[in-house]
This record gives sequence, structure tokens and C-alpha cells, in this order.
Amino acid sequence: MKTPALLSAALLLLLLLLLPGVPAAGSGQTPINVLVTNSVTNSPNKTYSTYVVYRGILLGGLRRLQESNTGFTFTYTEDPNYGPFLESVNGLAGSPAERTYWELLVSTTGNQIIRPDVGIGCYIPSANEQIILNYNEY
Ligand SMILES: *[C@@H]1O[C@H](CO)[C@@H](O)[C@H](O)[C@H]1NC(C)=O
Repeated sequence: MKTPALLSAALLLLLLLLLPGVPAAGSGQTPINVLVTNSVTNSPNKTYSTYVVYRGILLGGLRRLQESNTGFTFTYTEDPNYGPFLESVNGLAGSPAERTYWELLVSTTGNQIIRPDVGIGCYIPSANEQIILNYNEY
């Protein structure tokens, strides 16, 4: 009479592991790297490690990184239509006069560089992605 109970416990475990949207044990943190780079002045790259919570947004990870006091700082503005918009990183701000801005790119674990079609407030990083904040001109 013990087998059916064991079987359903095993099935439940399997479901928990396979179902998308159900956090499996240990999936509470999604580690990411953040690369701060500058295409305008070619100043040295900086990389940082942080994490987002399960299905958490990039903005949360950037805030966590800033609060960890590793030297990373950022500011953003709230655009009424597009949401949070990266304004400055490590003290350097994008400038309409100089036609510079902070570009958000992502290097996926397959080493592809993608340009997310959403901003820092909506992008949900996957584990071990490299988030690239690139100071660039337009
Ligand atoms: C900084 O990172 C960018 C993007 O990965 C890369 O193209 C560039 O070569 C790096 N620069 C240095 C000095 O490592």
C-alpha cells in the first residue's frame, strides 16, 4: 500500500521540477554579470556580479548591485511612456547635447549579443547572462 503514495510523491517532485513558472528548490537567485563599457572614450571595462530573484527584473538586480557597495552606481528616470530609462552609470550620464546614451545589450549564454526590445524595468535576465551597459553615441 506504500507504492502509490511514493509514486505520487515522485510525480509531484517531477512536476515541480519541470513545470515552468513553479520555482524549483534553489532557483531563488538568478546570477548575472554586468559589464560597464564605453564605446565613446574607450575607458577600461568594469564587470560586476549580482543576481535577480526568480523571474525578477533587471532593475532589481542593478539596485542590488548598487547596494552591495562594489563601486557600481546608476540613476534612471521614469519615462511616462517607456518606463525606467537608464540615465547614468558610475557617475557618467548620457547627454542629449553630446548625443550620448547608455545602451542596454545582453550577451546570452550562447555568446550572442542581443538588444532587448524592453528597458531595465521590464527585462527579465536568464541565469548567467552578461548584461552590457554601453556608453554610446547616436
Ligand atoms: C570591453 O568590452 C567590449 C564588449 O564586450 C569589448 O568589445 C571590448 O573589447 C572590451 N574592451 C577592453 C579594453 O577589454
